[in-house]
This record gives sequence, C-alpha cells and structure tokens, in this order.
Amino acid sequence: MRELPKVELHLHLEGAAPPAFIRGLAQEKRIDISGIFTEDGGYAYRDFNHFLEVYEAACSVLTGPEEFARLTRAVLEESASHGVVYTEAFLSPDFCGGADKGAWQEYLAAMEEAAASVPEITLRGIVTCIRHFGPEQARKVAACAADTADDFIVGFGMGGAEDVGAPADYKWSFDCAREAGLQITTHAGEWGGAKSVRDSIEALDPVRIGHGVQAIDDPALCDLLAERKITLEVCPGSNVFLGVYPRLDKHPIERLRERGVKVTVSTDDPPFFRTTMTREYEALARTFGYDEAVFAELNQTALDAAFCDAATKETIR
Ligand code: HPA
Ligand code: ZN
Repeated sequence: MRELPKVELHLHLEGAAPPAFIRGLAQEKRIDISGIFTEDGGYAYRDFNHFLEVYEAACSVLTGPEEFARLTRAVLEESASHGVVYTEAFLSPDFCGGADKGAWQEYLAAMEEAAASVPEITLRGIVTCIRHFGPEQARKVAACAADTADDFIVGFGMGGAEDVGAPADYKWSFDCAREAGLQITTHAGEWGGAKSVRDSIEALDPVRIGHGVQAIDDPALCDLLAERKITLEVCPGSNVFLGVYPRLDKHPIERLRERGVKVTVSTDDPPFFRTTMTREYEALARTFGYDEAVFAELNQTALDAAFCDAATKETIR
C-alpha cells in the first residue's frame, strides 16, 4: 500500500508539520508552546475549535521564510515516503507575514525553492483564507493569491471554522482569485451539513469541495455534485478522528462514490489526525474492500480534478 503511487489534493502545509519539527523550532526560538503536545509527542486538543487554536499556536514558531522552507522539505519528504507523487497543499498568507503582499512573495519563493529540492514529488499551491479571520482579512489573502497566480500557485480556497459567517461573505475574495486565473475549492460539509455545501456552491461556484461529505444527507445535492462533476476532497481519517463520524464504516465515502459523486482521498493534517496516505488506503481496503482497481480510479479522479496544467498532469500519468 505504501508504494502505490498516490495523488493528494487536500493537505494543509502547516497542518502537516511533524510535532517534533514544531517542538524543535519552539526550543530554538524559546517560545513556550509545551501545552500543545501530548506526552507521547503528538498534538493535544479536545475538539475542532480547540484544534484550530492548537494549529495556530504551532504556526507561531514558523516565523520566517526559512522556517517555511524547512517545513516544506520535511512535509514533502514525508509525503513522498508514502508514495505520493503529486500533492496540492493549502498555503496560508495569514501565517506568512500576515497576508502582506511583499512578505507573502518572500515566503512563497522560499517554499517553491524548497519544493524543487524534493524531486520525487510535484507540489502545487492553493492559497487559502481562513474563515474565522473574517471577510476583510480574506480579501487581503485573495489579493496575495491573485498577485502570485502562476504555474505553481494554481488555486484559491478557504478553511477554518465553518460556522463563522456565510460563504457569500467571502464572494469578493473568491471572484478576485478566479479572475486572476485561480481554480476554486472551499471547505464545506465537514461540520455545516448539506446546507453549507449548497450555500457554498451557490455563492462561490467551486469546482472542488474540501470534505463535502455531509452532502450525503441531501440526495438532490448528491445528484447536483455528480452532474456538475464537483470533486470532493474526502479526508476519512480526519473525519473519524475529529468525530464527524464515529467509525470509518459509518463514513459516507463509499455511498457518495456509489451515487456517482467524484471522490478523492486525502489526509488533511496528517500528524494532527495520526494518519498518513498509507494508513488511509489501508483503512479503506480493510473497511470497504477497496483494491488496486478502486485506488487507481480514485487517483485518476484526483488527477483529473488537480489544478495544475495539462503538461504537468502528463508527467504524473
Ligand atoms: N478543517 C477546516 N480548516 C482547517 C482544517 C480542517 O480540517 N485543517 C486546517 N484548517
Ligand atoms: Zn482541510
């Protein structure tokens, strides 16, 4: 399972930071974030909102472009060791100099250069705004994204607390990014139900949705997703770890696939959810009987929905 070539579309760069990496930086910089770690060296948090707080605390030690370059190398080497050949990562100008355009360009250059030093895997960036930081901050993030849209920065998205505001509050930012040529995805239907998926489609017109799994509760919405070929970035391990579903056998990934919805598999924030792409595949094989043919289909769906250009896809195929 580990060797099987994999395409991953939903990975938060900072959320993929190994805890030992963050702890080491904290010690170097004498920043006390010891409270965010468990005794066995993992990340410690109680629930989703606390997860978001711990996530931000971990990011506080990533103080400059060099830290993000080191992070990028560490994350890509880890992904490549699980057979991932192509990955799209959410990159956050908010954590890279506070969504200032000049600072963002420096951080981005450092990440892109670091990515080039790990040739086993191809990285593309999706600039992401953070919903609970509010619409005004999202506009600054979108301006950063629009400013750096190119072959490397290929998408724009939104993560964070799904219960803050409405998708329509962020329409200006998504339109700005789209006009700059970026492709659109947004987190929806992880916590906010099928309605959140519907509202996001209406307001933001995404071609992919982060999670989207709660669409299963609305058959007409599943039909709409299938018809429009809106691809779901499904993160089963994340959903089970955070308690969106009590166990993998209750997770709707297979029911969505059976209904004709385009589904793909990703890890989201692997060390936070104690997962890897290998573990995701092993768990899906065990629970739903997925075999190499199903994994080949999931990877083809992911490659079809990837935001990189056709020439890059050719090098992955
Ligand atoms: N959901 C929403 N926002 C996030 C996540 C997530 O799983 N990880 C990092 N930001
Ligand atoms: Zn996510």
